[in-house]
Amino acid sequence: MKVSIILLSVACLVAHVTAYGQSIHHGQKTRNVRTHVRRNTTSGDVPSTQGSNFTIDGQADYFAGTNSYWISYLTNDSDVDLVFNHLQESGLRILRVWGFSDVNSKPTDGKVYFQLLQNGSATINTGPDGLQRLDYVVAAAEKRNIKLIINFVNNWSDYGGINAYTTAFGGTSTSWYTTPAIQDVYRKYIKAVVSRYSQSSAIFAWELANEPRCSGCDTSVIYNWAASTSAYVKSLDPQHMVAIGDEGFGLDVGSDGSYPFTYAEGLDFAKNLEIDTIDFGTFHLYPSTWGVPNSFGNGWITAHAKACATAQKPCLMEEYGVTTDKCEIEGQWQQTGLGAKGIGADLFWQYGDKLSAGNSPNDNYTVYRGTDDYECVVTKHVAEV
Ligand SMILES: *[C@@H]1O[C@H](CO)[C@@H](O)[C@H](O)[C@H]1NC(C)=O
Ligand SMILES: *[C@@H]1O[C@H](CO)[C@@H](O)[C@H](O)[C@H]1NC(C)=O
Ligand SMILES: *[C@@H]1O[C@H](CO)[C@@H](O)[C@H](O)[C@H]1NC(C)=O
Ligand SMILES: *[C@@H]1O[C@H](CO)[C@@H](O)[C@H](O)[C@H]1NC(C)=O
Ligand SMILES: *[C@@H]1O[C@H](CO)[C@@H](O)[C@H](O)[C@H]1NC(C)=O
Ligand SMILES: *[C@@H]1O[C@H](CO)[C@@H](O)[C@H](O)[C@H]1NC(C)=O
Repeated sequence: MKVSIILLSVACLVAHVTAYGQSIHHGQKTRNVRTHVRRNTTSGDVPSTQGSNFTIDGQADYFAGTNSYWISYLTNDSDVDLVFNHLQESGLRILRVWGFSDVNSKPTDGKVYFQLLQNGSATINTGPDGLQRLDYVVAAAEKRNIKLIINFVNNWSDYGGINAYTTAFGGTSTSWYTTPAIQDVYRKYIKAVVSRYSQSSAIFAWELANEPRCSGCDTSVIYNWAASTSAYVKSLDPQHMVAIGDEGFGLDVGSDGSYPFTYAEGLDFAKNLEIDTIDFGTFHLYPSTWGVPNSFGNGWITAHAKACATAQKPCLMEEYGVTTDKCEIEGQWQQTGLGAKGIGADLFWQYGDKLSAGNSPNDNYTVYRGTDDYECVVTKHVAEV
């Protein structure tokens, strides 16, 4: 998702700054937790694919899940636990989180950041206001047997993204994919994250980027980047699945000729799916921001299902949302996803809950626990799954 969520999330984080005073204490606590994170897994436990399905704990099934970009940045452990308890109670099995927070200058307000990119150099923050926050998320997921998708970089400027790299190292949002110095820094970051959690039972999959686009580029740019980066991730962690994290743009099968089906953003869904170090396809669904009607959704889902069935890899419907009539519209998409051979799981955008400092960020797509929309988009859907 790309919206002005950064403003909301900043408001949320500011509310948590008071909790930062406890960071030394948390640091000690999370160090202990990390020992727990490092538990080895046996290969049968590792989430995987089986034809068009995913498997969790060795069981092939259809899974329902959700997204929470902000959970990695919470500074209150109780809030993290609360969310995971609620996810577990709700029967949501997969949670997609941001594994990045890139900044160009060191925050002075206690804001959580994972990597400082400044003046041509990169420093990874493994401190209590850095990756130790992600450690807590991973440990909390392990305890509830919830599986995480951890994403390495944002195309958008929220939490730094590609723009934070180009600010520190030069280049543009399109040259980012092919600039060796930048890719070297990006890989070092990937290595830090993957090696930190590769033995955790909580990992569902690694994801190369959130909504990578290369506007106007030949599709070979993203294809080559995805092929070489996913091979690199597999070299670090052959056990876990790897996906791209793209919106699913660029597809001939089932195309109605509208913008999302075109190759304008430099993506070729079917070709990217052929990469053997990419385990499953991802696609998003936001008709209102793409300039198509909501009725576009069902065709978009079945088109991807078909492409994934052909590739014999599952598709993950990993972000979808509307701002009004969530129950009716998202409910229909969920039905289509569940019924389509080729779709293995869906994650609505985005989960909402009541945290110690107030509601989690609201981008109008948020489905808050305890609301009628939640009954429908979560409770009913999970029961059907
Ligand atoms: C953390 O969250 C818990 C539970 O919601 C709350 O009781 C506590 O006051 C919070 N701590 C801080 C420092 O905000
Ligand atoms: C995890 O444990 C298994 C079985 O003991 C072992 O074969 C494997 O090498 C371990 N993996 C790592 C990365 O340590
Ligand atoms: C995938 O799961 C569905 C049920 O969710 C089942 O009918 C189908 O046989 C499974 N396919 C494979 C290849 O396991
Ligand atoms: C990095 O550059 C900024 C100006 O862009 C400067 O203020 C700062 O001192 C530099 N930092 C280092 C570590 O060189
Ligand atoms: C994300 O990708 C699009 C398409 O290449 C580009 O226009 C946009 O600037 C990118 N975002 C950032 C923050 O670079
Ligand atoms: C959510 O919707 C309200 C009412 O339409 C609007 O005022 C607000 O700006 C929206 N928030 C976001 C983040 O788009």
